[in-house]
Amino acid sequence: MSKRHPLIPAIAPHLIQDYYTPEEVDALFGVVKNHGPWPLISALHFTSTEEFLAVAGGKNVPADAKLTDFTSPSFRGYLGQLGVCYYDEVHDIYFSDKLMKTVKEVHGAQYAMTHGMLFNIAGPSHSYDSGHVDSASYRGLTTANCPVWVSAVMAKSGLFEEYKVKTAQVITYFYESGIDGGFTYWPDGPDRKPQRFVPPFHNSAIVSDNSQMYHRREANGPRELRDCPELEITTKLHWGGDDQWILRNGDTEIGRFDEANRRALFHWTGLVFMDSAEVKEYLEHTNDLTLDKVFNMLMADLTERGVAYTEPDDPATDQAFIDLLTKTYALSPDEYPAEAPVNAKAPSTYV
Ligand SMILES: [Fe+2]
Repeated sequence: MSKRHPLIPAIAPHLIQDYYTPEEVDALFGVVKNHGPWPLISALHFTSTEEFLAVAGGKNVPADAKLTDFTSPSFRGYLGQLGVCYYDEVHDIYFSDKLMKTVKEVHGAQYAMTHGMLFNIAGPSHSYDSGHVDSASYRGLTTANCPVWVSAVMAKSGLFEEYKVKTAQVITYFYESGIDGGFTYWPDGPDRKPQRFVPPFHNSAIVSDNSQMYHRREANGPRELRDCPELEITTKLHWGGDDQWILRNGDTEIGRFDEANRRALFHWTGLVFMDSAEVKEYLEHTNDLTLDKVFNMLMADLTERGVAYTEPDDPATDQAFIDLLTKTYALSPDEYPAEAPVNAKAPSTYV
């Protein structure tokens, strides 16, 4: 019998239009425009192809895949992490009662705690994301001390559910053009049919349980503008004024897009606790995980499954071990919307 958790959200996601006030929208975009430049999402979270594939690889993987084969010109910055707000301009949003109330309602929870807030911004681009779940929070392990790929393997394995802290997200989209660029999600599990929210998005909040539900961004923008051949893992996004966003490698411009083709989202995560007993367990660290404990539990499970492995010196960075865990706990969607297929830079090399 499979130990795999089905990865089904507490409730199906729903949309709230006009989520932020006009003043809040100005403050949020003000940070993006005034505090750049911003790195690629891939640069923030992955150091190798194996790490990417552990999180968002699909069923068919290129034999000679490179990390840049899965890198879109999609950029990210943090507005706050683990309860620390990085920009005074958005302090009141980060700690807002409105966001707390929205996430408590997802779970029918009594308490909430602000956690992370980030933005993603992209111009016309492909999407190489085969679907993923967002990094969960576990007691003792968060995005601050647990690599994204480890968190993805933990979710797929289903071995760590008792340590998971419930979360919910408010992901507010701004994508006015409406050329593709939707949000695909699998509310009944990755082996069932996907559903979509489709643009145009005007301050449109998707309320979701994203660490328990497969989802992905779709390719967006005019198709003839989606290639970005000079993209490097160190490419940064700069606000250029006059409605222009500029991609640069060092001082060299390699591309630009305008506000009309900009797809952005602000992603806020709250931790929620059903009752005071859950709060107490979280705050007092009476039943926490450590990375060592996680790797020991994974290796014990490999042994129980009869999967041969060599104990790595450093499991967090051993590429062969990461690849073995990805294959052992492989889980990804079976089906994609006809309107939003998975993109590939070199489909002829797929095996
Ligand atoms: Fe996500």
